[in-house]
Amino acid sequence: LKQTEMFRPWLHFAPKKNWMNDPNGLVYFNGEYHLFFQYNPNDSKWGPMHWGHAISKDLITWDELPIALYPDEYGTIFSGSCVVDWNNTTGFFPDEPGLVAIFTHHLETELNKTPIQSQSLAYSYDNGRTWKKYQSNPVLEHDTKVDFRDPKVFWHQVSNKWIMVLATGQTISIYSSPNLIEWSYESEFGENIGSHEGVWECPDLFELQIEESEESRWVLLVSIGDNPHLDSGSRTQYFVGTFDGTQFKAKHNEVRWLDYGKDNYAGVSFSDIPEEDGRRIYLGWMSNWRYANDVPTHGWRSQMTLPRVLGLRKVQDSYTLVQTPVQELEKYFTNEKILENKLIQKEFRFDLDESYGMITLNIEDISAERISLNIHHSQTNVTSITIDVEKLILTLDRSKSGITSFSDNFLKQQNVKIPNTEKIKLNIIIDSASIEVFGNEGEFALTSLIYPDKACEEISLQVLDGEMVVNGCISKPSDYSN
Ligand code: FRU
Repeated sequence: LKQTEMFRPWLHFAPKKNWMNDPNGLVYFNGEYHLFFQYNPNDSKWGPMHWGHAISKDLITWDELPIALYPDEYGTIFSGSCVVDWNNTTGFFPDEPGLVAIFTHHLETELNKTPIQSQSLAYSYDNGRTWKKYQSNPVLEHDTKVDFRDPKVFWHQVSNKWIMVLATGQTISIYSSPNLIEWSYESEFGENIGSHEGVWECPDLFELQIEESEESRWVLLVSIGDNPHLDSGSRTQYFVGTFDGTQFKAKHNEVRWLDYGKDNYAGVSFSDIPEEDGRRIYLGWMSNWRYANDVPTHGWRSQMTLPRVLGLRKVQDSYTLVQTPVQELEKYFTNEKILENKLIQKEFRFDLDESYGMITLNIEDISAERISLNIHHSQTNVTSITIDVEKLILTLDRSKSGITSFSDNFLKQQNVKIPNTEKIKLNIIIDSASIEVFGNEGEFALTSLIYPDKACEEISLQVLDGEMVVNGCISKPSDYSN
């Protein structure tokens, strides 16, 4: 592996230079996954937004391409989505299908104190390499709504029309269209349900089949902006319910979080994944508005989470959104140490002096009160993942993980309640500047940035007052990543 800049990830997308936030326009077309993203090409802090662009064949290794969308007279380019117009509903594609981007124009003027947000289109004849803006932009405006942004669009087979979910303050508005150009208002969701700790942003709506069942439900993702009075910063909630082409109805009242770590925001799913594949693949921006502009990277800022496959599983009488890293990741790893029915009393240490790594642990027969997995990034930098066995609470502590001085909030512990179970399964991916924890086959996720001297040097597993049996594996980079 080549030596690169400090903190630059091996397995995650990060821009070569300057600032990035939300993933935009995630779409699969002609053998390529496209990742567009909120991008400021002039600075490594947030500023006038463009759409950056990267492509991949396997969702893990990305090639960054030239900027896709530049600001124009209607404003800078905020978040949005891409679709393939297979049947030329727009009239843009008389010859062969192509990509359409549906995005927010954000206009700040000297006259107007409040910015104006509207939805616009651009289309491409060359697999997203170059774009034409639609001549009659914007295609959707609102007279009174100030927050009117982040359109996510999909083709709804049953009602034979395009559906757009749009963030409108602290609700999600649903619009429909036959052609992506003329939009009709359908309904609004969210008045009396969910978390209203901050402004609602970056919605996504899709259907998922319930595991081991023929039934399906609709899932609505809603990211919630930073609320300075809370420690959580920006985070993402989800709803499980039904959608009939007009209205989304949630089937539960409690608030549900997509990720219990601080660093997964504004995530949405890929459009147009081929039917034979059938996966709902999601990725998020691996940062938090609370400190995103201050993280200690030089000349570039931010990275995306690993792409994850989403599913719905019945866990304790409710449908839980589950997430696991895409299987394309496997070839980037090779097993270094297999643990077979290993009884652990006190401590087990293992050298893993690598640029990135993965730990998979199935923990059983636990008599210990507390288990901790310490990731020693270097002699002095350690991140610990601790499980309080009785309370079934997993805590990730990054206060000694490396550089933390840029934000008081960054030091705070991150917790998740493990759904009650006999067995605890963990899959942990360590990269140069992140730890992603997936628990019990994706029933919970905890995504966390870190800024250590190096990714990994040693792993230690400790048990307090008792013992446990572990099956699993410690993995290191494979030759594939050379
Ligand atoms: C979410 C967000 C979006 C907006 C974009 C601007 O992180 O605030 O609502 O479109 O970022 O960069």
